[in-house]
Amino acid sequence: MISSSSEQWWAGAAGYQIYIRSFADSNDDGVGDLEGIRSKLGYLSDLGVDFVWITPFYPTPGDDWGYDVADYCDVDPLFGDLDTFDRLVAEAHDRGIRIVTDLVPNHSSSSHRWFQAALGNSGAADRERYRDYYIWRDPPPGGGPPNNWVGYFGGPAWTLDPDSGQYYLHLFLPSQPDLNWRNPAVGDEWEGILRFWLDRGVSGFRVDVAGGLVKDALLRSNPQLQPIPPGASRWEQWDCFEHLHDVFQPESQEVFRRWRAICDRYGAFLHGETYHLDPRGMDALLPPDGMHGGYWFAPMHIEWSADTLWEVLSGPGDLADRLLWAAGSHDMPRAPTRFGGGEAGRERTLAMNVLFAFAPGVPVLYQGEELGLGDGHVAPESKLDPVGPDSDVAAGRDGCRTPMPWMPGPFNGFSAVEPWLLSEPRPTEHTAAAQEDDEASYLNSHRRLLAVRRRLFETEGLAGEAADWGRDGDGAVIVLRRGSVVASANTADTETTVQLPAGSELMYETPASTCGASAPLPAQVRLAPRSAIVCRTN
Ligand code: NOJ
Repeated sequence: MISSSSEQWWAGAAGYQIYIRSFADSNDDGVGDLEGIRSKLGYLSDLGVDFVWITPFYPTPGDDWGYDVADYCDVDPLFGDLDTFDRLVAEAHDRGIRIVTDLVPNHSSSSHRWFQAALGNSGAADRERYRDYYIWRDPPPGGGPPNNWVGYFGGPAWTLDPDSGQYYLHLFLPSQPDLNWRNPAVGDEWEGILRFWLDRGVSGFRVDVAGGLVKDALLRSNPQLQPIPPGASRWEQWDCFEHLHDVFQPESQEVFRRWRAICDRYGAFLHGETYHLDPRGMDALLPPDGMHGGYWFAPMHIEWSADTLWEVLSGPGDLADRLLWAAGSHDMPRAPTRFGGGEAGRERTLAMNVLFAFAPGVPVLYQGEELGLGDGHVAPESKLDPVGPDSDVAAGRDGCRTPMPWMPGPFNGFSAVEPWLLSEPRPTEHTAAAQEDDEASYLNSHRRLLAVRRRLFETEGLAGEAADWGRDGDGAVIVLRRGSVVASANTADTETTVQLPAGSELMYETPASTCGASAPLPAQVRLAPRSAIVCRTN
């Protein structure tokens, strides 16, 4: 059971991201749904997570697979209905798991009634009322878009509405028009949306595009650093500009201050998709009276090397207890794939998750990471991500979104019919069923990790302890000391020696470790390549 205390329940908690379309399909229509999540609550509770963040399940045309919301206060029939949602919340709470939902406030779907009204499709009075819910501008005298902003998905961030002759702004797809956060009516609508879900028992929100809500009041063009080269990927286009006026405007903090006050009344965890790769930028996005936390994305943008790992783990310093630490998401190639693929990629990801588990802040596993999954293979003709392949997200975002492999057999037990996103079957040993009974499996390694973490947080009072990041083993081993706990991860592909405080007791080791469960440990231990250990010191 979860307690209703108003304490910050997420201190010491571990999370799990559910990409709903691909998690579990209860009604065999090929798409994961809320009832599917409910059917896996036992699995999640055995894994040992304290909360799940569920990606959008609201009514949607699905142009960006749910991040184009047509109604913020309902459930798309594909995923269930409000009663299914209520049942999920109640049963999750019975198992001690909290539900965190996704808010998408930067943009709605163009099929949302607000945008349809803004276009004039529901009469003149509605047009008058809703036009200013979105950002419209006349073209400049010579024609063309009102300024030089480009979208995150590439191309101009403006689309012409031929009927009015005005352009509207969209930082993502043209069917994802940006809301006008300078209009107080938009803020009022959203406070109602937050309360709607909080009253249904959600324990927090992940805020999509949290850095983007309020735009420059004058919609000034961004300084252009270089011309956009022909054929540039979406990120290359983005990087041709200094993003002074489109994103990270300080006025967005006013929105979060109000939301924080609402969330605090419910004891809910407000955290954002804070896509800033510089700790100073993160600091500005997370003032003490704003969101409680934000995702730290830098670890998703590095090559596997001790130096870069060290930089992104230790870089946030005092900010770390406001961060959510995730090795993967539905937007990036899976960590084992990014970190070299195969067994090496899996071992590296687990080692990173061992460090995340003991860092200040909140660790979050992306569904399937507990099975050691790399990207699924999606044939070119089956790809569905509206964002095509580019230099940063090599195969688009389909590879990290393929269905969960629950068991060997047709469609890996995800669904009885062909799933919405068709991919090659996973080998038996990558399925949850096969890993269940194998003590050395990734699934059981993650279960042990989360169990030992929970125990140590309780017995050692880790929540209040600061992190001290160090290096050992000629720099190859990243060492995190937190109170009486020391977590060490060998980033090298060779065995490496680490020094341990006298009398250290081994609490956890990854399967590749050869350290052995002797207590107390000697002052020097050999860490196998890419392995990690956790010790308690006196
Ligand atoms: C971030 C979400 O994680 C991503 O999937 C989506 O495409 C964009 N925001 C736009 O909502």
